[in-house]
Amino acid sequence: MKTTIRAEIIDSKSKDNTDAAATAGIAYAGIDCANYESPIDVKTNAMRLRRFQYVLRKLVLIGAGHLPARKEWELKLAIARHLFEDAEQATALLDRITELRVTGNQAQTAPDAVLALFMDEVIHCRSDTEYLLGIYEVVRPELLAAIQAHLHETQPLVDYPTVRILKFLCLEMEEQIALGKALIAHFVTGAQRSQAAEYLQNLRDTLERIGGFSGQLPARKVEARRFRSISPYTLPPKSARPDNFGPSLHYRQPGCLDEKLSDAENAFREMMKMRQEEMTAAEMVAAVMFETTEMPWTFYRTLARHTWDEARHAAFGQAALEKHGINWRATPHYTAEYEMFRGQSPAKAYAFLALGVETSAMARSGKQHEWQLCRDVFNDRLMTLFQDYDWADEVQHARFGKEWGTAFFDDDFESARAYGEEAWKELLRYRASQEPDRQKYHTAFYMEKFGKMPMMKATEAVLAADGE
Ligand SMILES: [Fe+2]
Ligand SMILES: [Fe+2]
Ligand SMILES: [Fe+2]
Repeated sequence: MKTTIRAEIIDSKSKDNTDAAATAGIAYAGIDCANYESPIDVKTNAMRLRRFQYVLRKLVLIGAGHLPARKEWELKLAIARHLFEDAEQATALLDRITELRVTGNQAQTAPDAVLALFMDEVIHCRSDTEYLLGIYEVVRPELLAAIQAHLHETQPLVDYPTVRILKFLCLEMEEQIALGKALIAHFVTGAQRSQAAEYLQNLRDTLERIGGFSGQLPARKVEARRFRSISPYTLPPKSARPDNFGPSLHYRQPGCLDEKLSDAENAFREMMKMRQEEMTAAEMVAAVMFETTEMPWTFYRTLARHTWDEARHAAFGQAALEKHGINWRATPHYTAEYEMFRGQSPAKAYAFLALGVETSAMARSGKQHEWQLCRDVFNDRLMTLFQDYDWADEVQHARFGKEWGTAFFDDDFESARAYGEEAWKELLRYRASQEPDRQKYHTAFYMEKFGKMPMMKATEAVLAADGE
């Protein structure tokens, strides 16, 4: 009897301690365990995460497929940033799923045929308006709601690795939705919204039929149908640009030059404009990603980063031009890197950029030289910083080329590099043939006065060989 009383005293003391610790928020490493009888076991959890992760991976490819097709500059930059973020979040979830007794192969396949059908419908938007409303008013808010519901339901102590990933994912997706809403407020008129109604209604109906992104909402009652996705989405032959941009050209016309300025000032303008025109490289890498199917996920993750870097460099150029009060929008815009490779193999396009241009830019006369010019000759601190990071990114791109550009060529670096050089020369030859007054204003006419870069050397070599 005595023993029992003593045990009860110890018990109530430890209960008091537990309650006090929980109240003070110091129990279980600060993790709230109130809902510890969560119904989300490992299997249910893995099934839901597979769906979220699948949607994110599809969003990466939808962004890639639409980057060249979408017109407004600010939307293009948002697409490039968000496809990179989606790829990073999908990677974290993919890693987590394989910790939940799911194989890598299972994790990378579609978890549900009707969810796949829904994503097929999303990519068939036909305008900036449909893209903006579909992605930022339907897909992302519904995905965020499903993820937040899961975050609320799963047991935070047993499932902490998932909780941590989803916390960051939600933060980033809230920012994505906020940017999307701001873009909609800026670009979408009431009339345009009405025109998009049928496309949006179909997305909402289909999502309802499949039980939402978690598959948990009231069960499917009606068979989902294909509305637009009866034929595959294809990339546009031309890369779209806003109405207030100058003409799209297949050579670089230095539209912001001024003969009254010094050679150094014009060379600086050429360099800023060249950065801003890296959007065509972003579109080309996005196209490679979109057209190359059935690769390991790391390929898409790498090219998503590559796409965003090229678009970011375009934003560097934009920011530098705007700092100097230059109206860059109305100038001609170079679009050949995407457009010339339409109808050619993705292997050639990627070899051209990553193994031709970017690998050659690693020479001292390449990216390093551009950075030194900004620092020592043009004396512009902002552009020096931009070139410094552009150089750092391009080192990564040359590495991407070695890793994935060679994947198209049996991992043979030498032959892949030679092929990339040839593809680059083909573009340079074509570009030179398009320039109306090559002697006076060829590509980088002023920059050449401050040292020859790999692109200029290669162009000269090609033209000299053609002249023989
Ligand atoms: Fe680039
Ligand atoms: Fe760059
Ligand atoms: Fe690059």
